[in-house]
Amino acid sequence: MTRPRIDLHSDTATRPTDAMRKAIADAEVGDEQMGEDPTTHALEQRVADLLGKPAALFLPSGSMANKVSIAAQTNAGDVVICDRQAHVCRWESGGPSIIGGISFEPLDAPGGRYTPDQLRQAYVAGTKYQPPTTMAWLEQTHNHGGGAVWALADYEAVTATATSLGLAMHVDGARLPNAVVATEVPFHRWAATVDSIWFDFSKGLGAPMGAVLAGSGDFIEAANRYKYVLGGALRQSGMVAAACLYALDHHVDRLADDHANATRLAEGLTDLGCALNKPVESNMVYFDPAPAGLGTPAFVSVMTTSGIRFTPSPSGDIRAVTHLDVSADDIEDVLRTAEAALRQG
Ligand SMILES: Cc1ncc(COP(=O)(O)O)c(C=O)c1O
Repeated sequence: MTRPRIDLHSDTATRPTDAMRKAIADAEVGDEQMGEDPTTHALEQRVADLLGKPAALFLPSGSMANKVSIAAQTNAGDVVICDRQAHVCRWESGGPSIIGGISFEPLDAPGGRYTPDQLRQAYVAGTKYQPPTTMAWLEQTHNHGGGAVWALADYEAVTATATSLGLAMHVDGARLPNAVVATEVPFHRWAATVDSIWFDFSKGLGAPMGAVLAGSGDFIEAANRYKYVLGGALRQSGMVAAACLYALDHHVDRLADDHANATRLAEGLTDLGCALNKPVESNMVYFDPAPAGLGTPAFVSVMTTSGIRFTPSPSGDIRAVTHLDVSADDIEDVLRTAEAALRQG
């Protein structure tokens, strides 16, 4: 496949910058599985400090962070409450049920933001007949909710309810850095009221791979065992950890540019007559070009021919995600190209 000129299909499309590649080349490394990789340790300590948690664990991917969190905090047969569009429930190939033996109780919640009442109503203590609910789950920001950002008060109302019910509270923070930048609420505040939380380095932060999960010492010890079970223990992972450390130093504050670019893209598409299907709250734009004269498949096809890549979303509209490799000028280019495509109809 020819590389698109402008790739809006996901913020996973970023490529390491020259400076990040230099940090990778200079990394001090050892055998991570043996606990001997100094750069991986430095990253884990840095994230533990950032999130205000006693311990942290480097993992190859966010999906693995989700799975080890379930395996370490639930028993087979337990129920995990999440929202219906949660990545873990719909997009991880059933892994949590295969690995953890759990089932999900999905809640209907726009933007993934369910309420304390919904959580209380869905909760089951467990009887001879009913499996117990042992974990609550939320996503910050919410991917299929449109990059939706939980407000701190709503978030803390849910996390306090989970704790009062005796549930383990987990946060899938694949894009937590986007939430930090969008709300100006620091990392540690989002972590303070939950048991397990992680964020990805391979999305807006622009590293080639990696996620770091944080929590109590006991939790991280258990999670580390499941990391090994899943084949996630690594060798010279400092090569990647160095990229992640570089990203923490250089790529967090700039997420504000991605959010501004997403807002500009949404405004421009609306001016062209497209329908905006979800409010833009961070770096994602969900839109439907049909009201402007072209259906999703035709629009995506014309734009692809012009070197601009979008993802048709499962609901039939289009998801565009801004990131490190998409500039403000690129957004103007996208809008000009979209205008020409829609005019030709
Ligand atoms: C909300 C959310 N959680 C988890 C993941 C999985 O992360 P990874 O691709 O690092 O496995 C993604 C990936 O897009 C995501 O959007």
